[in-house]
Amino acid sequence: MRSELRQLVDMTEDGKATSEDFAHAPLPETMTAVTVHRDEMDMFRGQAFQEKDPRRSLHVDEVPLPELAPDEALVAVMASAVNFNNVWTAIFEPAPGFHFLGEFAKFSEFNAKHNQDYHIPGGDAAGVVVRVGKAVTRWKPGDRVTVFGAVVDLASPEVYDDEVRDPYGRAWGFETNFGSFAHFTVVRQNQLLPKPEHLSWEEAASMPLVATTAYRMLVSKNGARMKQGENVLIWGASGGLGAFAIQLVLNGGGFPIGIVSSEKKAEVVRKLGCRDVIVLERKPGEDLFLDEYGHTRARQILRLKARIRKYTGGEDCDIVFEHTGRSTFAASVGVAKTGGRVVTCGSTSGYDHVFDNRYLWQTVKTIIGSHGANYFEAMQTARLICRGRLHPVLSRVFPLEKVSEAVSLMHKGQHVGKLGVLNIVPREGMGITDRERREHIGEAVLNRFRTPCFDSSAR
Ligand SMILES: NC(=O)c1ccc[n+]([C@@H]2O[C@H](COP(=O)([O-])OP(=O)(O)OC[C@H]3O[C@@H](n4cnc5c(N)ncnc54)[C@H](OP(=O)(O)O)[C@@H]3O)[C@@H](O)[C@H]2O)c1
Repeated sequence: MRSELRQLVDMTEDGKATSEDFAHAPLPETMTAVTVHRDEMDMFRGQAFQEKDPRRSLHVDEVPLPELAPDEALVAVMASAVNFNNVWTAIFEPAPGFHFLGEFAKFSEFNAKHNQDYHIPGGDAAGVVVRVGKAVTRWKPGDRVTVFGAVVDLASPEVYDDEVRDPYGRAWGFETNFGSFAHFTVVRQNQLLPKPEHLSWEEAASMPLVATTAYRMLVSKNGARMKQGENVLIWGASGGLGAFAIQLVLNGGGFPIGIVSSEKKAEVVRKLGCRDVIVLERKPGEDLFLDEYGHTRARQILRLKARIRKYTGGEDCDIVFEHTGRSTFAASVGVAKTGGRVVTCGSTSGYDHVFDNRYLWQTVKTIIGSHGANYFEAMQTARLICRGRLHPVLSRVFPLEKVSEAVSLMHKGQHVGKLGVLNIVPREGMGITDRERREHIGEAVLNRFRTPCFDSSAR
């Protein structure tokens, strides 16, 4: 490990270094980063989704440290985590990330640095602030933080209603450069959240993106406003979003019903306390609820509805938690209760959704679009994490140099929960300072997804 990085780790671990010490700690001129390259953005042209291999497009490079804008902080990234938008970046879908970087660079002179011939992805991080710009007021060098992904323009009037409505809003590390798959990242001060001190760096880094997104979708006034006792159907229940949706539903007194594709994944989901899990096996690329012409298969949807009712004592779902997209959306609209809500933030299986609109209008259901979270929602989520009401669902951890392996597992759906990444820290388990809270919660709860019952090679 480079001497500058070792010094930062030592200062962070021993807990005696002051903010001044961090502000003056020597930094290297270059950093290791995982990147995609502009001159390769057509490499998968003509291939199907499953054929595009992230291990071919993700590289490990040495690049300069990014410059700081006045409202930005430079964070030494101790650990990070893999998200599905890293898959999109690595396979250059739905559009190459370089298009977003070019657009972002035009907004202001401070954004110009983002338009490089390499793109560092990554949308989750935990680390230490090592430098701050002159306009940063709330954070200082030495602060131990996690990072959440909304990059917004505070000059947009819309952000004062809801940041997510900002027409210039961008997702950090997906639509901006210098994401979390590097030794350092630059973020705006309103992306910073406190690090939960009962968690290790890799546990803390694994939560912000999916936890904040699920919080907005289910709990926030901008989402489904879940109430006690509601039935919530959760697609992809063993994945990152799904595992946090289950925790939020249980916290809020609701009844989660998870859907997964294998009994092994069902077993993991039950460990979260979700008793009712439906296994719907499917072949790669298969649409269970659409026929060969792309029309909805009403009978299949009714069958799913009947299976749900077995768990609920005959009730339908008040809320359907959607992100799986085209292949499930018709069912989501179909199985929601009269007056129910389908809340969606993504389209893993395709974004051109098809559904029978009679099941929406005649039964007065609502579809709610949701995207990331605003800073207030992110802070509310961080509070739940710090107070021990939302727990990590890490299943495996990879060194930074092996990020492409982790992204490939997610691309193939051969993971559960979250996949963590060690950026600067040399090993797992570092960074925990609140041992009392950790003991109170218990290792068993914090490690529920790290079980041998899931073999990533078998679905
Ligand atoms: N807009 C936002 O702010 C936002 C934020 C986070 C994520 N997202 C999007 O949400 C999606 C999920 O993210 P994630 O982090 O939870 O990913 P993830 O960890 O890969 O989990 C997704 C789960 O969906 C299930 N799935 C995939 N294809 C399916 C299909 N055709 N039918 C049924 N289930 C399917 C898989 O589980 P099984 O194998 O068990 O079916 C998988 O575990 C991604 O598309 C991501 O880009 C959007």
